[in-house]
Amino acid sequence: MGAVDQATTGDHLERYDAALARDPMSAFALVREWMRTDWRAFFAQLRDRRPIFVTPAFTVVTRFADVTEVLSREEVFTVRAFGPRLEAALGGPFMLSRDATPMNWREKGLMQVMLAPQDAAGVRGFAGRVADKALDAASRRGHIEAVHELFRHVALRVCAEYFGFPGPAPEVLSRWTRAVITDGFANFQGDPAIQAASVRAGEEMIGYLRRLLAERRAELQAGRVPVPDDVLTRLIRTTLPSGVEVADERILINMAGLPLGFVESGPGAMVEAVEQLMLRPRVLAEAVEAATAPDPARFDSYVWEALRFSPFFKLLPRVCERDHVLAAGTPRRTVIPAGTFVLAAPASAMFDADVVEEPDDFRLDRPGHLGLYFGHGHHACLGVHPARAVICEVVRRLLVRPGVRMLPPPDGAIVRDHGIFPDRFVLAIGAQGKDA
Ligand code: HEM
Repeated sequence: MGAVDQATTGDHLERYDAALARDPMSAFALVREWMRTDWRAFFAQLRDRRPIFVTPAFTVVTRFADVTEVLSREEVFTVRAFGPRLEAALGGPFMLSRDATPMNWREKGLMQVMLAPQDAAGVRGFAGRVADKALDAASRRGHIEAVHELFRHVALRVCAEYFGFPGPAPEVLSRWTRAVITDGFANFQGDPAIQAASVRAGEEMIGYLRRLLAERRAELQAGRVPVPDDVLTRLIRTTLPSGVEVADERILINMAGLPLGFVESGPGAMVEAVEQLMLRPRVLAEAVEAATAPDPARFDSYVWEALRFSPFFKLLPRVCERDHVLAAGTPRRTVIPAGTFVLAAPASAMFDADVVEEPDDFRLDRPGHLGLYFGHGHHACLGVHPARAVICEVVRRLLVRPGVRMLPPPDGAIVRDHGIFPDRFVLAIGAQGKDA
């Protein structure tokens, strides 16, 4: 089963070369458009013919070995592409805004302790219960707008209960994450209005967290019972020896990073997984059968393979800080000059036939280490354990519902903000599912 949902548009590279000779701006526009709408066919050509695709504006890296090289060399390929935007919003450095600093080492470690992998089962159960409640209500109506009524709804509840960061209201937290992440990852033209909205949202978020931290600390000092075992409480109760203690400002920034990491990418991944499964009716039927098995692992492998066909993070941007020989010792060897804007493409790497057998087939036996859904190397996702659990469980609870299905467009079309962040995905649900 191959690229069932994407049209192919002939020889991309010939069209690119012709456009570049005629009008470089139009060549740049073509590449951006293909990366958005026809990326599977475009990347297939690049992997085959120009695996390190150098353009006057940026360089796209498409093979698995080279993508992981870029993401593993944080001192060469840095997050300066988006780091300053995140810092402007957060008012200070954050692990995803810097590379290879003592702060990266220390705060990633600290936050890995706070997001204990053994929490994932409990978070999964919680997410499933919240999802079921939303699905019960939707089943009575016959349809669900899955992005807001289910995927974001669950993600925001997880932020409230597990992170201890409910926001003044879920809609407010939702608005903050969208504003900051849009500026960091979708404001390609540097629109000052988007930047200002992000800075405003970041200030509101940090201000809110500062009050929340003070309140929670006061409650803990007053002996509040029961004490919520959420990430905020864990951070407040953590005492490290003098010289390596955690300042409150660092708690605030790391708390802010949790919904920023989750509320856009979690629902984004759920939309992609559900769409990819629904585009393959035979696979979907098998997945639904697996969804009722006592061990969730088999069902989860359908979700990950579906996401391989459309990972939420298709490209990870980096800036090359010094001349670097990429893919040294291979026929792809390319000197990447300092200052190059580099796009490492996990979406392409996961179709590299050098490491993924029969990449166009939907198969459940893909080795886990080839999945780049959560990045790789220095900046590999902090939230991978709870995120995996929530994504799989919410998709599972949705798919086991009788009568759940996609609607034909325009009703069923997935609507995305800035072409990236899903905002609308209406599905029919229940025996009386809405058909038009
Ligand atoms: C509990 C939910 C989540 C949290 C708290 C979270 C948090 C984070 C943080 C803090 C980082 C930066 C790590 C560093 O710089 O060392 C990160 C990286 C990343 N996360 Fe997550 N995340 C979550 C969910 C997700 C989901 C659902 C996806 C996609 C399916 C995702 C994909 C990524 C990717 C691709 C990176 C690497 C970015 C890069 O290298 O530029 N995350 N995450």
